[in-house]
Amino acid sequence: MRIACTPHCSHQRRLVAQRANQEGLGDPYFPQLGNGGYDALHYDLDLKVEPRQQHLEASATMKARALEPLAAFNLDFRNFDISKVVVNGEEAAFERKDGELTVTPLAPLPAGEEFQVTVDYAGNPKSYHSPHAPVPIGWNAIDDGSYVMSEPDGSSTWYPVNDHPRDKATYTFRVDVPNGYQAVCNGQLVETRPQGERTTYIWDAKDPMASYLSTVNIGKFAEHKDVGPNQVPIHNFYPERLAPLARIDFGRVPEMMQWLGERFGDYPFEAYGNVVVNASVGGAALETQTRPVYERGMVTGTRALEFVYAHELAHQWWGNSVSVADWKDIWLSEGFACYTENMWRHEHSGGIARLDKAMDRTYHSLPQRSAPVADPGQEDLFSGNVYQRGAVTLHALRKEIGDETFFRTLRTYAERFRGKNVTTDDFVATVNEVPGKDLTAFFDRWVRQPELPPFPQPA
Ligand code: TRP
Ligand code: ZN
Repeated sequence: MRIACTPHCSHQRRLVAQRANQEGLGDPYFPQLGNGGYDALHYDLDLKVEPRQQHLEASATMKARALEPLAAFNLDFRNFDISKVVVNGEEAAFERKDGELTVTPLAPLPAGEEFQVTVDYAGNPKSYHSPHAPVPIGWNAIDDGSYVMSEPDGSSTWYPVNDHPRDKATYTFRVDVPNGYQAVCNGQLVETRPQGERTTYIWDAKDPMASYLSTVNIGKFAEHKDVGPNQVPIHNFYPERLAPLARIDFGRVPEMMQWLGERFGDYPFEAYGNVVVNASVGGAALETQTRPVYERGMVTGTRALEFVYAHELAHQWWGNSVSVADWKDIWLSEGFACYTENMWRHEHSGGIARLDKAMDRTYHSLPQRSAPVADPGQEDLFSGNVYQRGAVTLHALRKEIGDETFFRTLRTYAERFRGKNVTTDDFVATVNEVPGKDLTAFFDRWVRQPELPPFPQPA
């Protein structure tokens, strides 16, 4: 889904400038990621899962609009045996090479028209060791279930997809599992359909979503229902054994949503809730849209890791609703989430003086020189420097323009680019609307230059 752009938005311009092609969207770090020529609108993912055999049998349909006449088009897809590809009701030819699935319909698809492609496939899902991610990504098998964390390029391990954040879409998941298991996905559970020995869980995600944020988690969960501000439903899912501790840990999520909402504007999606999976993967947590996923080590029963829950919640505004246009802009996601995590950890409980101290400590831990935060290189996409210098940049900005203007600017930015994509230029331009301020040079020093600037004195 590409939403009509505001006059401020640069993504249309860039789409042309960077030459999308059949195999990629022109992302400088990921030339093969995403696919040119069409705009994905909706995915219908019908998955039949055998958790004991770790087997998946699936039928995935993408509804899309052709942006140009298409004799053939690509999807990102790895692994599995494909039994059939159908375009607009007619069987289509297909070819596979290195994570690219090329589909050739019987007749070319006319520009501007909607089409639908269904891929039937089966096999044992395999996670993917992306050089860009801190842990194996995509569909991961675990004892008695599975989980999905895909940032940045793991979604093609479980469905054929236009795998780039610039092409957001809505999703429906129909996940058929043996009785006793549940499927937990993005959005809202709209139906549970029991049939004999099995049950189908149907989830609908109505808010446009970047593909790396899609998730399906299968396991035996205890559900913990809560309610957020504006009656946003919060449904959390915990492994049964951990539920008593997790209820304590996640107990302040409604308060957290309220506190962040007051600063960033209302929570941007239809629903929320955290899912803890029965896996042990080095502290992994991912901000999957409306439903962050945590490995089980993130539950302590003491709220010691509450700042991580704040981090993943912050991503719903920063990264998920307002998404990067290119992966090099990742600081607009991680720098913002890292700053918010610090706000919750220090300012919420100890006021601005404590946050000032914490950010000062972070500042003094930063290297004097680094790859530019706004273009860190693919290897350093998730480096500590992107998170921390990004966070310190925001704190420095806050000192420069004052609290009132800082949060008003963030609310304007969240609202203007809600459901869309941004570059660093878009953020800088929004900040520069503050009367009497031109912060272009400020951002140059903080996020475009290697040298660490001096920390500004409070306004
Ligand atoms: N976005 C994650 C965070 O909250 C970091 C991350 C990137 C990640 N890729 C991942 C986590 C894959 C788990 C799996 O900071
Ligand atoms: Zn993050």
